[in-house]
Amino acid sequence: MRKIPPGVGPKHPQVVVLVGATGDLSRRKLLPGLFHLSRAGFIPGCRIIGVSLDDLDADGFRALAREALDQFGTRRAGDADWATFAGDLDYVPLSAGAAALGAAVARAERSLGGETRRIHYLSVPPNAALSAVRLLGEAGLVAQSRVIMEKPFGTDLASAVSLNDQLHAVFSEDQIFRIDHFLGKEPAQNILAFRFANGLFEPIWNRNFIDHVQIDVPETLGLGRRSAFYEATGAYRDMVVTHLFQILAFMAMEAPTSLEPVPISEEKNKVFRSMLPIDPKDVVRGQYTGYRAEAGVDPESDVETFIALKCAIDNWRWAGVPFFLRTGKRLAEGQRIISIAFREPPKSMFPVGSGVGAQGPDHLTFDLADAAKMSLSFYGKRPGPGMRLDKQSLQFSMNDTGLIGDVLEAYERLILDAMRGDHTLFTTAEGIERLWQVSTPLLEAPPPVRLYEPGSWGPKSIHQLVAPHAWRLPFERAWRAPALPVGG
Ligand code: BG6
Repeated sequence: MRKIPPGVGPKHPQVVVLVGATGDLSRRKLLPGLFHLSRAGFIPGCRIIGVSLDDLDADGFRALAREALDQFGTRRAGDADWATFAGDLDYVPLSAGAAALGAAVARAERSLGGETRRIHYLSVPPNAALSAVRLLGEAGLVAQSRVIMEKPFGTDLASAVSLNDQLHAVFSEDQIFRIDHFLGKEPAQNILAFRFANGLFEPIWNRNFIDHVQIDVPETLGLGRRSAFYEATGAYRDMVVTHLFQILAFMAMEAPTSLEPVPISEEKNKVFRSMLPIDPKDVVRGQYTGYRAEAGVDPESDVETFIALKCAIDNWRWAGVPFFLRTGKRLAEGQRIISIAFREPPKSMFPVGSGVGAQGPDHLTFDLADAAKMSLSFYGKRPGPGMRLDKQSLQFSMNDTGLIGDVLEAYERLILDAMRGDHTLFTTAEGIERLWQVSTPLLEAPPPVRLYEPGSWGPKSIHQLVAPHAWRLPFERAWRAPALPVGG
């Protein structure tokens, strides 16, 4: 097994109370992630206590976990590893109450021996999360503990403030880890490395050189079984006010004084403070045809399954640079890109018809897939007579490095960080409340939803929104195929 470098994992063994243990996220990401972290030796010891409304016993929970690993785990669970992990699992149904939960945690702590820490993962909607917080309080499980919360962190400013107040009645802010899994993605963290570990790009990372920015996250998937959640949420609350704005902050922030949680949050919050309120005129809301006929959806639903918008960061670095954001369900392609368009040269000496400008300005593009890619595209001369220009590119693909197996899935990374008490990649109450504040004009007067065909790129008006620019997706040219392995 690979040797884990010292300091990447928590110092003390962990007791995880997983609330919502039988739910979708738990089965898809959290149980497979905890399995990998334990098996790979990232955690010095771990017991997991599943909690949910389902009336299971420990063996029933083990069976559910095994099934989840087989169905959703990206790494094979061998018999010996599984047997060890299964022995670390326990289960307490919510109906058993606080005392039973407290007793299960005490048992787990005794079995680990020595000094331990508690981590409560609340993988449930906000109302259930607040009852879970009260239950943890009653069970005496607040001391020596950290709590990971899942979005949505409110649905508007007032509800976010009230949620934070209720949380703070039990847990202090430094115990709370609000997860935004986009920040746990390797390529999101690589934005920081790319910007601040190199001298080349930072000097031009501003309004003098950058014309506009696109953060584009189209998805091909539909709602699956999430219609109830989605009807109460919509694309803006599900994706923009969360993931897309967080990525925007990494892209736009000033250099922090150090790579520590407080300096990073400070710089991200300054970006959010500089954001202008979202003007409903700069927003296209869409809904795919057929959405209203889906099970669990109101036949007159006005919920958007697509959103594209223009926003602005009114500070010295970014004043006047439009940021275009887009995301939606049932679109033509699944992609997660940030594309930065540089300003075109002030004057072209290349003859009309030479091709310069024909494929848009030079661009830097980040692909935020786990197998991250980056591309810098620019004009160069096409070989042959005369001066014809072609778009060429320099590309980096993580797939070519042989290190792709070391990538931690976003939830794995973030759970490990929370166990270590590291807030760097988590969002703060202040940041979230500010994002709801800039969202208020849109939430109060949303433009009407426009229909789009499943498999398209959204309603037609998205083109007016970016004009005179154009959406970078769909790419005119595909990414270069990964290099063949040496000798391959
Ligand atoms: C979730 C949203 O937070 O992120 C989903 O609720 C969305 O609607 C998902 O599909 C996208 O995440 P990823 O990691 O698959 O890009």
